[in-house]
Amino acid sequence: MVLSSRPALLSFLLAAGPALAALYTDPSQLPKKTYDYIVIGSGAGGGTVAARLSELSNINVLLIEAGGNVDGVLGTEIPFFAPNQIGTALDWNFTTTAQAGLDGRSILYSRGFGLGGSTSISESHHPPFSDFMVHNRASQDDWNRFAKVTGDSGWSWNSLQSYFKKMEKLVAPADNHNTQGEITPSIHGTSGPVDVSLPGFPLVTDSKVIGATADLPTQFPFNQDMNSGNTIGIGWVQFTIGGGQRASSYTSYIKPALSRTNFDVLINTQATKLISTGTQSGTPVFRGVQFATSATATKYVLNATREVIVSAGAVKTPQLLKLSGIGPSAELSKYGITTIVNNANVGANLQDHPLLSSQYSVNTTAQATFDAISQNATFAGDLVAQWESSHTGELVLGPANQLGWLRLPSTSSIFTTTTDPSAGPTSGHYELIFTDGFVSFAGITAPSTGNFFSLFTNVVSPSSRGTVTLKSSSPFDSPVIDPGLLNSDFDIFTMVAAIKSGQQFLAAKSFSGFILEPVGEYANAITDAQLEAYARKFSTTVWHPTSTASMTSTSSSAGVLNPDLTVKGTIGLRVVDASAFPFVPAAHPQTAVYVLAERAADLIKATCNC
Ligand SMILES: Cc1cc2nc3c(=O)[nH]c(=O)nc-3n(C[C@H](O)[C@H](O)[C@H](O)COP(=O)(O)OP(=O)(O)OC[C@H]3O[C@@H](n4cnc5c(N)ncnc54)[C@H](O)[C@@H]3O)c2cc1C
Ligand SMILES: *[C@@H]1O[C@H](CO)[C@@H](O)[C@H](O)[C@H]1NC(C)=O
Ligand SMILES: *[C@@H]1O[C@H](CO)[C@@H](O)[C@H](O)[C@H]1NC(C)=O
Ligand SMILES: *[C@@H]1O[C@H](CO)[C@@H](O)[C@H](O)[C@H]1NC(C)=O
Ligand SMILES: *[C@@H]1O[C@H](CO)[C@@H](O)[C@H](O)[C@H]1NC(C)=O
Repeated sequence: MVLSSRPALLSFLLAAGPALAALYTDPSQLPKKTYDYIVIGSGAGGGTVAARLSELSNINVLLIEAGGNVDGVLGTEIPFFAPNQIGTALDWNFTTTAQAGLDGRSILYSRGFGLGGSTSISESHHPPFSDFMVHNRASQDDWNRFAKVTGDSGWSWNSLQSYFKKMEKLVAPADNHNTQGEITPSIHGTSGPVDVSLPGFPLVTDSKVIGATADLPTQFPFNQDMNSGNTIGIGWVQFTIGGGQRASSYTSYIKPALSRTNFDVLINTQATKLISTGTQSGTPVFRGVQFATSATATKYVLNATREVIVSAGAVKTPQLLKLSGIGPSAELSKYGITTIVNNANVGANLQDHPLLSSQYSVNTTAQATFDAISQNATFAGDLVAQWESSHTGELVLGPANQLGWLRLPSTSSIFTTTTDPSAGPTSGHYELIFTDGFVSFAGITAPSTGNFFSLFTNVVSPSSRGTVTLKSSSPFDSPVIDPGLLNSDFDIFTMVAAIKSGQQFLAAKSFSGFILEPVGEYANAITDAQLEAYARKFSTTVWHPTSTASMTSTSSSAGVLNPDLTVKGTIGLRVVDASAFPFVPAAHPQTAVYVLAERAADLIKATCNC
């Protein structure tokens, strides 16, 4: 499928210079014997917190990343349209268990492996070749619910305002077009590390999508800025892109900090165990980290004098905690692991967004951009040349210029049997994404001719819950991942409702003469029962796992973390990544993770006396 080509093309485009000197590729090279902080994982959570802590020149920070240097890895890859897929050297290549909600299918469960974590693979810049790069703060209700369940008002929407701005640098789109009416600049930061911009190339679908919000304003209101706290409505996508290039936690936070002598980054190395270094008033202290480059390589141990911070992401963080004796004792004892902190919540409460993409043929004389790129290698080559010379053209785009967040009507029949799982009226139940071209994540090959339009329907306030459990006692084995996609009546109801809502949107006057007909098995899905069967057969994931080590109030025994992200029942140990959210935000979550990590860095700085 088309998506497969993205990482390869990205690699080609970013074929980059030599590895930076401050990166260590083997534990034996590390120059120091002790560090104040050891951070595990370099994604949106770990890259951010490690770089921010390294601003304190009197403390030493070690960042350990399992994957490699993305500059180097990308430089070795070959261009276009590699027939094969998401599974690149930058991917952990996880798969899920057989998903009951998906007709028993196991699906690929990509997670970033390399500097920048999933923000590196989530942020390449080519429509069909990359992933989303979408910049969402989530809604005020999402954050206010976090504040409520943790009892910490510091997680509320209002309290976090300075952090939303602190991480952002709003820049002009690559084509420098006038963005009046497409964003509200005053609510954005202009001097943070992460570049943010609007789409930098116009598409034939832009006026149709925006026109449809004017045709059907009650059902599909235009939202000028979804990062205002109220996400509801349809509008322009903000991306973590600047100057036509992706921004990741690597490019934004880690790379600029590499020149600091108090910041060491060790790549190609996995943390294999957190080691309890003693007890304090009976509470276990976890300041040791064991790590190795492979299952058979030498194991190293270092102690952090202050804290160990786990930022391995929602899949690997619960695995590492469990391997270290923090988890459900029944599960740990099955693998011969001694329980140090018995907590049934580790690896429970996994939440994710199911994604379905449905395609239509369209009537256009102008080549629909995304299709032309995958169908015509000459055209694609011209675009690569253009991108290389000026960072302009179609290749600066994410996969859609507009998307929207919508709610089921409160009179919806599902609410007679189910409590609304969403955080509140500013959070969507589902998301619609409008893509100018054929994009499938379900293994459907893009046609070699013709012009298409893809409607993505994502369930963004799901009630399904899943788990991450151990497969073995080896840190080098993948854990067992069961995201429970479409596993509840609410989730499948919402997916079907989202498709029907998308169909109503595409029936707006603005689209007339453009949308021709649904293609593939979608064309035969008419009744609700048929739409449900179609959704179960073709849905995958938006790659948004969260909540496997969720924070709750300090007094609560539910959850894994305290509101300051310290691990309950331990000393010296914190988790700073997507695992910490008690609920998956109704949003693409990278920005929420950046913001969580920005505040985490300040919480640590405020109490460390350093
Ligand atoms: C294909 C894809 C597309 C996405 N698109 C978007 C998008 O458009 N917008 C958006 O907002 N979000 C998107 N996301 C989600 C977003 O990337 C994640 O929510 C976010 O990166 C999570 O941050 P994190 O720090 O929790 O984990 P990650 O960013 O996944 O980082 C975890 C890091 O830890 C490392 N690691 C794991 N275990 C160990 C270990 N034992 N030792 C050392 N290192 C370890 C991993 O290699 C990785 O680098 C996408 C994700 C994927 C996979
Ligand atoms: C994922 O699969 C690709 C392609 O087979 C491979 O190159 C890469 O090393 C794999 N990733 C990991 C972490 O093993
Ligand atoms: C780490 O701390 C433990 C407990 O204090 C100690 O036994 C061990 O030797 C230390 N390891 C290193 C590498 O300093
Ligand atoms: C492919 O793209 C090239 C360069 O833009 C163009 O000249 C050519 O006509 C295109 N071919 C087809 C079949 O559209
Ligand atoms: C296709 O578009 C053209 C030009 O806009 C229009 O005249 C024609 O009626 C459309 N065809 C269909 C089948 O809608």
